Amino acid sequence: MTIPRVITIDGPAGSGKSTLGANVAMHLGFLYFDTGIMYRALTLAVIEGNCDPSDAEAVTTLAAQSVISVQAPTQNDGRQYTIMLNGRDVTWDIRQQSVEKTVSIAAAHPSVRQILRARQRAIGMQGNVVMVGRDIGSIVLPEAPLKIFLDVTIAERVRRRINELTARGEQIDVTQLTESIRIRDERDRHVMQPAVDAIYINGDNDTPEQTLASVLQFVADCPALR
Ligand code: DC
Repeated sequence: MTIPRVITIDGPAGSGKSTLGANVAMHLGFLYFDTGIMYRALTLAVIEGNCDPSDAEAVTTLAAQSVISVQAPTQNDGRQYTIMLNGRDVTWDIRQQSVEKTVSIAAAHPSVRQILRARQRAIGMQGNVVMVGRDIGSIVLPEAPLKIFLDVTIAERVRRRINELTARGEQIDVTQLTESIRIRDERDRHVMQPAVDAIYINGDNDTPEQTLASVLQFVADCPALR
């Protein structure tokens, strides 16, 4: 089996895996690829096409027809990268509430996942990639030489979110916030598939810099990534 120079990072929403993935990629000069954007862009196509997200056949057809790509940032508006859906810039649109609410329904269909996973795998197999998601180490790129599963408890994710919102001067309902994170985890439960051979990191007590340092040490210790 070919061993691609790829690092997979899986974990729940809000665990800091995107920040970690982007930083690891920057340090190594690898491509950073967040697979969540594919499910989000497809969901936007579903919503805009007035398609029923629970209609497996319709969503699968859209998945097969949609061209989703990631480019270097095309605008200086705080984005890390530009997401294109069928030639249109959807970088911010895929973060809207309607997408957030619908994405786990559209992402649940096995036939949809098959299409998107094949595209993710093709990108990963090119090598020099840090790929982030829920099932990357277990299903998309099981031959990756370094797999990380980054977990953070709900209580800690709530605490971090409160800090973020407080810094922005926003009102917080802690019960509602905890519930929304719990519901999100519950919805994602079916797609979350940690690899049995992943290195499990609990990030509760670590700063992003500490987690990054740990992962860079795992990279240095991994012969296939040298
Ligand atoms: O990581 P995120 O919040 O951007 O992911 C958006 C949605 O896509 C979320 O509901 C989980 C789903 N997803 C998935 O099913 N498989 C992946 N590899 C990545 C994300």
